[in-house]
Amino acid sequence: MYKEPASFKLDIESGVIEDSKRLVRRLSDMKGYFVDEEAWKELVEKENPVVYEVYAVEQEEREGDLNFATTILYPGKVGKEFFFTKGHFHAKPDRAEVYVALKGRGGMLLQTPEGEARWIPMEPGTIIYVPPYWAHRTVNTGREPFIFLAIYPADAGHDYGTIAKKGFSKIVIEEDGEVKVINNPRWKA
Ligand code: 6PG
Ligand code: NI
Repeated sequence: MYKEPASFKLDIESGVIEDSKRLVRRLSDMKGYFVDEEAWKELVEKENPVVYEVYAVEQEEREGDLNFATTILYPGKVGKEFFFTKGHFHAKPDRAEVYVALKGRGGMLLQTPEGEARWIPMEPGTIIYVPPYWAHRTVNTGREPFIFLAIYPADAGHDYGTIAKKGFSKIVIEEDGEVKVINNPRWKA
């Protein structure tokens, strides 16, 4: 009746968790996510790079239990926009989450259902508390893989629909060699 306690090996350098479930997202899996659709199409046709990989250790969807996963978010841009994860609300929207940055440089965009956004920079050692109800997307603003660990309730689930359709109200771009967080020109409240 009790589950057996367990330990897992995380390779801090690569971000890989042994005996976990691997998921790969290529640029072609992210149609409609980037503002510059021409640049997206060109890059998909040229090399269709892996944008990120997730290594997850997940339990049955039960209240009280926990999942965790590392994400390896590769460096790159589509037009001026840095590579990012799809971003989601949790299917149970009141489920919170904790992120721990391990390697590389980046940040997190968070957004309420009303479209109010925040940007939090992340470097190794940054811990982010993602409160209930906030959608979250990570962005690699650096030149090496950006690696972080996320810990979330086993019954949180993922709701990708709203973000896939509307995006975030802010985007993160490189302009004149600088990282800028600007209003999303395609955003409709
Ligand atoms: C989660 C976490 C995290 C996230 C990955 C990939 O709830 O599972 O927020 O593990 O899923 O970083 O990002 P997307 O799920 O938005 O593609
Ligand atoms: Ni999440």
